[in-house]
Amino acid sequence: MTQPAKPATLPTLVPPPAEFAAQANVSGMEAYKALYESAVNDPAAFWGHLAETELDWFQRFDKALDWQPPFAKWFSGGKINVSYNCLDRHTKTARKNKAAIIFEGEPGDQRIITYQELHRLVCRFASSLLTLGLETGDRAIIYMPMIPEAAIAMLACARLGIPHSVVFGGFSAEALKARIQDLEAKVVLTADGGWRRGKEVKLKEAVDEALKFCPTVEHVVVYQRTGSAVHLESGRDHWWHVLDETAREEVPAVELDSEHPLYVLYTSGTTGKPKGILHTTGGYLLQCTMTMKWVFDLKESDTYWCTADVGWVTGHSYVVYGPLSAGATTVMYEGAPDTPAFDRWWRLVDKYKVSIFYTSPTAIRALIRQGDHWPERHKLDSIRLLGSVGEPINPAAWEWFHRVIGGNRCPIVDTWWQTETGAIMIAAMPGAVPLKPGSGTLPMPGLVAEIVDNHGNLVPEGHEGFLILKTPWPGMLRTIWGDPERFKEQYWSKVPGAYFTGDAARRDKDGYYWILGRVDDVMNVSGHRLSTMEIESALVRHPAVAESAVVGKPHEITGQAVCCFVTLKKGISDHEKLGVELRQWVAHEIGPFARPEEIRFTEALPKTRSGKIMRRLLREIVTSHTVAGDVTTLEDMNVLTSLSAQHDED
Ligand code: PRX
Repeated sequence: MTQPAKPATLPTLVPPPAEFAAQANVSGMEAYKALYESAVNDPAAFWGHLAETELDWFQRFDKALDWQPPFAKWFSGGKINVSYNCLDRHTKTARKNKAAIIFEGEPGDQRIITYQELHRLVCRFASSLLTLGLETGDRAIIYMPMIPEAAIAMLACARLGIPHSVVFGGFSAEALKARIQDLEAKVVLTADGGWRRGKEVKLKEAVDEALKFCPTVEHVVVYQRTGSAVHLESGRDHWWHVLDETAREEVPAVELDSEHPLYVLYTSGTTGKPKGILHTTGGYLLQCTMTMKWVFDLKESDTYWCTADVGWVTGHSYVVYGPLSAGATTVMYEGAPDTPAFDRWWRLVDKYKVSIFYTSPTAIRALIRQGDHWPERHKLDSIRLLGSVGEPINPAAWEWFHRVIGGNRCPIVDTWWQTETGAIMIAAMPGAVPLKPGSGTLPMPGLVAEIVDNHGNLVPEGHEGFLILKTPWPGMLRTIWGDPERFKEQYWSKVPGAYFTGDAARRDKDGYYWILGRVDDVMNVSGHRLSTMEIESALVRHPAVAESAVVGKPHEITGQAVCCFVTLKKGISDHEKLGVELRQWVAHEIGPFARPEEIRFTEALPKTRSGKIMRRLLREIVTSHTVAGDVTTLEDMNVLTSLSAQHDED
């Protein structure tokens, strides 16, 4: 059911509500400025002090920051463990019986796991991993549904110093295989399947498929979630619950170096090969913990819900590590927002009295479309703060989120950050910074973000340019797994000495940042990054495809949608059948979430004289249906005419 969105009449400046500011962790602009200044003036002292007071160390660090651009070491010499900070330290306080995780499965099953109980479950699973012979430094792949065991697996790996890589359950066997191989993982932690829109997503089947090509994997642990029949390879595959029968209750957290690798998360870049973004221990945890307090204004009494899947960075930093380190109650929901009906999320908010609710503009737009009567059936009065992440939030979505979900009383923190940054970089501290709808507002303490042109020169106020980060921060990526050269080249070579975000932005007269989207060949579909090159390489692996070029086209709900231009090998002409087949092919090669919205067949692609595909022109065609930009380098003008004409026929 579709209801037209109300025209957005947005205020230009939304000051923190007085009641909110009065109770906020950071209250008033002066308080924000003081934090920002002290971090900029002496980053080592600022972060060093927070590291000492906000985290528990087995051994104090010698040096807060060792910065040899572009390689940073935070809290060198310190010994620490993320799992200890997320669990053990809380079990020594009154938090021990506080809910750490409130879980609801899609079928309606519910679990409330206290800190003490989560500690026990994590120890038991760590014990199982030890039984399998895993050691500190071995690598694990986690391919799980959104159930507490995904967090338990992450925390057990962190406890033993086993770097993990969580692969989103929507990725295919092909994508899983590539990640296992790149990480040279020794163990895969998975489940028989998970529930999504009433259907089972079969995970173990995909693991079996992937493992035909992954000789490094010695063990697979399978959690029984759905109870469907799975194949267990003798000697390699183990049921989680069977290993658990002989597990120990106490497994000490390993005292790890502050720079010990915590996890590798693969994300799309500008080539066909995903990049393994490496995050380490002490600095990452500190930045996640602090942003929980600064941006989400976390209090002991909050029930906090971030709707992201653990397969994405948001799920790492703001479902598991940030909230648990900060001692929060974090909500996990397994399934889809529309199952069994479009008010599932709002039911959960009321049922668990969620007070902080963090989601994406894509989800908001999809829910707006279903009409206000779904949220209106629920009180939603427990919510005091809203958050948004993944893409710019458009005015209609902001207005609806604020009015319908937030009852016009809750600030919305629009949080800009990336897989690479590890934690929120630009966002309002909601009791301090007045909001401007559509802007991420101001940077986190100590972060110097600038807008520059092609040559690295600052652009004038209000002008568009590339967003770069000039100062190191504790949660920053340390390298690309196994490829430090690519790390330097991708992030640190465009503007010497600065981190290149790949985003365009502008800064207004008040110093507020407005993110305008990617400037590279990365698309943002539903707040998830997809590389045009990755889809192109998948397409040309199909026997009928000669060449392809992929661009993002504007989409009402998902922000961008995948649009593929394809030229076929000679003699192949059944476009209708192939269109369906190729969409399916991409879903198989990468994952259902990458399925193209549109396949356009063409005789030729627009290229420069040196043979480079001019994706810019294709972007213009799908966005504005005309080409206004410079075409002087185009090799064959006829191609353009036929592409534009093709659109007119659509
Ligand atoms: O283009 C920016 C967009 O998402 C990219 C990062 O994607 P990913 O690494 O998958 O992480 C997503 C969740 C942190 C950025 O380069 N982006 C993220 N948040 C925002 C955003 N664009 C505008 N506003 C945001 N709040």
